[in-house]
Amino acid sequence: MYNYLTDPRFAGIEPFESKVWLSSPTMHGDEQQWVDHAIQTNWVSTIGENINEVERQMAEYVGVKYAVALSAGTAALHLATKLAGEKLYGQARPDRGTLAGHRVFCSDMTFDASINPVAYEDGEAVFIDTEYDTWNMSPEALEKAFEQYPEVRLVVVAHLYGTPGKLEEIRAICARHGALIVEDAAESLGAKYLLNGQWVETGTLGDYNCISFNGNKIITGSAGGMFLTDSKEDADKARKWSTQSREAAPWYQHEEIGYNYRMSNIIAGVVRGQIPYLTEHIAQKRAIYERYREGLKDLPVKMNPYDAEKSVPNFWLSCLIINEDAMAPMVRGDHDYLYRHESGKSSPHEILDAIAAFNAEGRPIWKPMHMQPIYRTNAFVTLEGNGRGKTNAYISGSGIDVGADIFRRGLCLPSDNKMTPAQQDVIIDIIKACFQ
Ligand SMILES: Cc1ncc(COP(=O)(O)O)c(C=O)c1O
Repeated sequence: MYNYLTDPRFAGIEPFESKVWLSSPTMHGDEQQWVDHAIQTNWVSTIGENINEVERQMAEYVGVKYAVALSAGTAALHLATKLAGEKLYGQARPDRGTLAGHRVFCSDMTFDASINPVAYEDGEAVFIDTEYDTWNMSPEALEKAFEQYPEVRLVVVAHLYGTPGKLEEIRAICARHGALIVEDAAESLGAKYLLNGQWVETGTLGDYNCISFNGNKIITGSAGGMFLTDSKEDADKARKWSTQSREAAPWYQHEEIGYNYRMSNIIAGVVRGQIPYLTEHIAQKRAIYERYREGLKDLPVKMNPYDAEKSVPNFWLSCLIINEDAMAPMVRGDHDYLYRHESGKSSPHEILDAIAAFNAEGRPIWKPMHMQPIYRTNAFVTLEGNGRGKTNAYISGSGIDVGADIFRRGLCLPSDNKMTPAQQDVIIDIIKACFQ
């Protein structure tokens, strides 16, 4: 690998003694107290006061009636997707998913955990292209998708990197087409959105809503997630399914397929200790985003965008996108990449490699789902309608694919809320050097 440490462009920059992370857990001490409480009271199980408390506190914070604490955001998304499938298409046989034989419109530029539950439930994901304004699902492409597949009744939508998507538009489109929404707010806990003139939290915008407490999230339990809803019936069902669908009988009695998805009271102790720090973490992440924006303003790059009038992101990850005319050559295979430096230009992998050489962690933009080998044969809808089969050997520039473009030109910057301003200035200097 190329040695950035001896490259004269980086002269005077020293590697970080301890690694600067993309986004690592930030403990405050209160977590220990609640974990100890669980152990001392012997509630070392999937029942206990910590679970009850995190459910109460998160429901109150986000502004929903019910929160169901689960083992992961992925578990929450699975149960949310299954609830939607059952509502739309009825109960499935135990060996079949609720979405069998049905298409579901899905965010394309997201982590695959958002949309894998569609496959768990035997549904077929149709990926909806991204828009440049917020890097989330394009409402216009969604409208095109309903033209192509008017029978679709479910949309899974994520808020990437903590930036709210255009849910007002997406909700209106879904309402017109009688479709339900599963909202994936795993990355955006604490982000606010102006919905029809009212500020609300992400995690309240769908018919079924999910958050995550994964170790890299804005607050964490080491793992964990939640299903959020105003429906008592849905909350009760999710809780039942998450505890192996046990019926009220003295023995193990089962009417429905179940899962072992409930949150542990130990994990809930960590989450309970983190909740009081959510707003502090958001403020730190925001300061990081703004410091990057200021520090990088003279380079041919832009930060990940958001609609300042209609949303307040939680700024979970700071990202940049390189202007097209400042992109140095870079190619990617499925597992490897190659790039070349050109004066005044750079590429995501040059910047990521340079950052890594100085002991800091960045990451490529989440690779869009329609480009993933596993989903390469699934439909993909863009502003132009069907996004498959739009390229042409004889017409250059044919085929809009916003997600692929952001993936190609963008990257996630070290965004750890323990990163000091001095450390961040070094990262900014490294990025500047990349463009020399
Ligand atoms: C957008 C998104 N959805 C879902 C998940 C899954 O959450 P978990 O890791 O808690 O299962 C994650 C992250 O992990 C995510 O970033």
